[in-house]
Amino acid sequence: MQTRRGFVKTSALVIGASAASVGLMPAPAKTVMATHRCATNAPKAGKTLVAYASRHGSTAEIAVAIAKQLCKDGQSADARWIGDLDNIHAYDAVIIGSAIRYDKWLPEATAFVQTHQSTLSNMPTALFFCCLAASSPTEAAARQTQKYAQKIATQLPNVTPDQVGQFAGVLNYSKLPRLARLPARALFAYLGADEGDYRNWAAIRSWTETTPHSRLNRLI
Ligand SMILES: Cc1cc2nc3c(=O)[nH]c(=O)nc-3n(C[C@H](O)[C@H](O)[C@H](O)COP(=O)(O)O)c2cc1C
Repeated sequence: MQTRRGFVKTSALVIGASAASVGLMPAPAKTVMATHRCATNAPKAGKTLVAYASRHGSTAEIAVAIAKQLCKDGQSADARWIGDLDNIHAYDAVIIGSAIRYDKWLPEATAFVQTHQSTLSNMPTALFFCCLAASSPTEAAARQTQKYAQKIATQLPNVTPDQVGQFAGVLNYSKLPRLARLPARALFAYLGADEGDYRNWAAIRSWTETTPHSRLNRLI
């Protein structure tokens, strides 16, 4: 009989192996991911980059919602996929977000922050993650999301974010390769997660308003 941890680990490995065998798991080399851009005419308004890493698009849509809220607050903002970004010099502030997979930010998000950490340490920076654990109101899920936040902080010791947001994501088996669906269903059923879109757009907008990015014009 497997322990809970053993079961989760084995299932994760099976999902990962099944997915890798059909080419799902590697970071997308060039994927069409959502982009949103808006510019304000206010001369002192800051410009924020909302950079994101995503496999199936739900984190991308959260990044776009954040950028739209910043624009509503009178800022300029671009939501862009991390894979499209060479540098961040054109921006006054940055928000970086990633989906959680197997308890971690996607590797390209961590690499992006590490690459730009000296620039980020001199500008308002906020981070967020999108995961299923954030959709559950249980204490165990809260401990899980806390663990994710701690892991991100440990991986990025040279960046002190103003805010770290956590948002519920999406579980959609049709986005997984066929071979990976069965073990994924077993794993998520065991963890008590049903298929669905758990994103809370009001919470995402409210969080955006708590960041310094939404009132950047007052800071510069
Ligand atoms: C293979 C796989 C592994 C996942 N691992 C976790 C996890 O460890 N913890 C969690 O809370 N959610 C996990 N999730 C849920 C994702 O974080 C969620 O589906 C998110 O919305 C994906 O974002 P994306 O659409 O931007 O890729 C996992 C999802 C998949 C498909």
